[in-house]
Amino acid sequence: MKGVVLAGGTGSRLYPLTKITNKHLLPVFDRPMIYYPIQSLVEAGINDIMIVTGGESAGDFLRLLGNGTQFGLKDLNYTYQEKAGGIAEALGLAEHFVGKDKVVVFLGDNIIEGSIREAVNGFQRQKSGAKILLKEVENPQSYGVPEITGDRIVRVEEKPRHPQSPFAVIGIYMYDSRVFDIIRTLPSSARGELEITDVNNAYIESGEMTYEILEGWWADAGESIEALLKANNLVAPQKGC
Ligand code: G1P
Repeated sequence: MKGVVLAGGTGSRLYPLTKITNKHLLPVFDRPMIYYPIQSLVEAGINDIMIVTGGESAGDFLRLLGNGTQFGLKDLNYTYQEKAGGIAEALGLAEHFVGKDKVVVFLGDNIIEGSIREAVNGFQRQKSGAKILLKEVENPQSYGVPEITGDRIVRVEEKPRHPQSPFAVIGIYMYDSRVFDIIRTLPSSARGELEITDVNNAYIESGEMTYEILEGWWADAGESIEALLKANNLVAPQKGC
């Protein structure tokens, strides 16, 4: 199983904090934001990790993370996103790295309290397809929202005005290698990006999507200034502060 951490984008929702640096390098309590997703992947037993980043601060990721020895890794892989074209476009850049393997995609601004180890193990046993993780939230309209019928997700809607459930699809996605064929078929969305929600809907349509509800808190630290503050306040007590 491979791991891909997506750390590109313009971070415009956090301006001016992100005017001169990449959002994923901003501090969350005592370490840069991107440390958390890498730690979560390593904790789940994934040691083969690629960072996808872009923009003018790309070199800072290499200076900060190097070979990932601070996470117990032997090395880290990097690739460069030429322009901010969306989550699915960024994932597409990791195709040569993932090859025929399965992949866990972790958005670089998503921080979780608990572990994804069980979910990753479950997906390892799943023959093919995809798995997403859900968390009940107060503001589902800010996220991808699943419509659930019985015990099946029938559709995911990106930032819906009228959410069909109180859940967010969090930024941790598990795919088989077919994901790259799906990405090639995607049209650009209204915001000019290749949407990860369209990828998820393709798996749902082919009946190959499973899901789990995440235990413990989840923070989308890059969603807004308030969300960044909230992430700090969730992490701090874990560090005894
Ligand atoms: C992205 C996805 C959205 C998902 C969210 C989780 O939104 O498009 O479906 O719920 O990440 O962090 P974005 O943060 O790009 O607006």
